[in-house]
Amino acid sequence: KLENCRMRKGWGIEMTFNIVCMSGDGIGPEIIAEAKRVLNKVAEKYGHSITYKDILMGGASIDVYGEPLTDEAIEIAKTSDAVLLGSIGGNAAISPWYRISPELRPEAGLLKLRKSLNLFANLRPAYLYEELQEACPLRENVISDGFDMVIVRELTGGLYFGERSTNEMNGMITATDTLSYSEKEIRRIAVKGFETAMKRKKKVTSVDKVNVLDSSRLWRKVVEEVAMDYPEVTLEHMIVDNCAMQLIKNPKQFDVILTENMFGDILSDEASMITGSIGMLPSASLNDTKFGVYEPSGGSAPDIAGKGIANPIATILSAAMMLRYSLGLEKEAEAVEAAVKQILKEGYRTVDIMPQDKSRCSFFKQVGTKDMGRLITEYI
Ligand code: IPM
Ligand code: MG
Repeated sequence: KLENCRMRKGWGIEMTFNIVCMSGDGIGPEIIAEAKRVLNKVAEKYGHSITYKDILMGGASIDVYGEPLTDEAIEIAKTSDAVLLGSIGGNAAISPWYRISPELRPEAGLLKLRKSLNLFANLRPAYLYEELQEACPLRENVISDGFDMVIVRELTGGLYFGERSTNEMNGMITATDTLSYSEKEIRRIAVKGFETAMKRKKKVTSVDKVNVLDSSRLWRKVVEEVAMDYPEVTLEHMIVDNCAMQLIKNPKQFDVILTENMFGDILSDEASMITGSIGMLPSASLNDTKFGVYEPSGGSAPDIAGKGIANPIATILSAAMMLRYSLGLEKEAEAVEAAVKQILKEGYRTVDIMPQDKSRCSFFKQVGTKDMGRLITEYI
């Protein structure tokens, strides 16, 4: 990052970072505004300079360019240090974005972004905040010791990128999707999974459907080969349907869940729900450089868009992941995470994480998107 440094009088080296912001649709612009507020405060406090370039994505881009992500947008993203993404898409039942061909819909933009930037590794941490135990739908005896896992999801292969077609023969329509993985694709995500485990509790649960799928049999073989390079890490295999059950039964057993694209998509939503709210979960999508796209795990929530009530914490925590992984600013990332924890401890809640038990509501203070962002910023 030397080219990013310049001397600042009396301050030593100041780092300049170029961030592309894709606010997207629905609650995207509201939650990105709060993440920017937090990042600006971090920059001011730690003496960095962050510049933003706003780019249209998803439905917002369809409205202007007729496609969810232009090639030009991707080129601009490539020149940045990282991309901060809000959320994309709308209500498929009523939005015009879903009355066009599938490859031009908002979600296709997301897949194009992942593929063209080679973002093969998606990290989705799911952690139960002590302060949010009441928002967790699992029984107290299951979660009394909390849980702390990260789902390492393969993001550029498998079913979502295989060939697909819909054909009609003799009056019968048949639709086909294909699931294929090469050894190379499995190996690089497995390495990411084991590397992640080395920095944590050194356990990898590799999830597959080995009793049915060829791609899973190859997955298991390659994961076992990669495991040989990480003797300190305990590897266990789990079949995906059992994993879905174990997440509810005993979430504490997991450290790193390593899995392919579609299984990771499904299991990460499940893991997010047991943390209390999908509005809490950040995510990082990485390639083999330091570059990454950072986005909340949740969707665009069109039903609450514009109401000022969306939880900005997942996006703020995604910005923290960006500070850590793409900008190399560990203590700044920790400062953001500590601020989130503190504000929760003080009882501030957006509506999605407000306790149901009204008798305890006098301690909790319900706040909107902006106030939550402001409180976290002020604490930093
Ligand atoms: C996610 C989303 C996307 C995915 C959709 C919107 C294409 O569900 O990031 O988990 O399936 O990857
Ligand atoms: Mg998903």
